[in-house]
Amino acid sequence: MIDFQSVLTAINEAASNEKERGEIADYIPELAKVDVNNFGIHLIDSQQNDYAAGDSNELFSIQSISKVLTLSMALSLIGENVWERVDVEPSGDPFNHLSLLELENGIPRNPLINPGAIVITDILVSKLENPKEDFLTYVRDIAGDNTIDYDETVALSEKKTGFRNFAAANLLKSYGNLNNEVDVVLDFYFHQCSLAMNCAQLTHIFYVFMNHGKCRRNKSYLTLSQVKRINAIMLTCGFYDEAGEFAFEVGLPGKSGVGGGIVALLPNKFCVATWSPGLNAKGNSKLGMLALEKLTTDTELSIF
Ligand code: DON
Repeated sequence: MIDFQSVLTAINEAASNEKERGEIADYIPELAKVDVNNFGIHLIDSQQNDYAAGDSNELFSIQSISKVLTLSMALSLIGENVWERVDVEPSGDPFNHLSLLELENGIPRNPLINPGAIVITDILVSKLENPKEDFLTYVRDIAGDNTIDYDETVALSEKKTGFRNFAAANLLKSYGNLNNEVDVVLDFYFHQCSLAMNCAQLTHIFYVFMNHGKCRRNKSYLTLSQVKRINAIMLTCGFYDEAGEFAFEVGLPGKSGVGGGIVALLPNKFCVATWSPGLNAKGNSKLGMLALEKLTTDTELSIF
């Protein structure tokens, strides 16, 4: 039996001694206000035992991690039709690059880069009566936690400065791959990215992808095939142009966000989330990646 608590405590200790903590994302001004010294980690195992260390109960902006949740909702609403509008190949490019989108006629490489996530958001805007409310209800329901909410200040901050996302949405529109108005889709997109959660809440939601599509209350949200697809896309695309490095060092499907969160999982075994707001050059949490590498190395648990 692995003593997860000792492993997490050791990881937190190593993180608190680390001097090189990366750079806080400041292209969304509101995110720049966070203290770089935060570090938290939370793990839930398949028996629903919770283990934690550090600032694991502090709320942070989940940003791109939300793209997995909108994908999940879109898949459960329109199934395989999703893939008519977005591909499933790693891009090898940063999350906000637009060059491939033009080369490939408005079909984004995958649903986790910004243009792909914006297409998924567009699908939800078309399908849901009250997109922002309905998506929040979906997320709260999976988590079994009604306290989860959008951070309006972060959403507004990104709306004012999200020029590349406006460019992406307009490019998609020009190729006929955006059915709703740019402003409406991006308002929802900026809100989904602004969701505030702590490490514990993130693992409680992503438990569903670790547990055959069933949440902690055993309610089913996804088919086995849909869970397979989501985990495969997290493994190959979840860290943008660092997806290979994450698979190489950590060996788990996962997803990062520029708020400094990372969530990763080993199917049937555990789901883990880290938060450290300093990012590396590729926009992924520096200490989060180190922490997860230590976790899978010390426990010898990975998908490989
Ligand atoms: O669209 C953006 O640029 C942000 N709302 C999300 C980017 C992000 O989190 C990329 N992940 N590492």
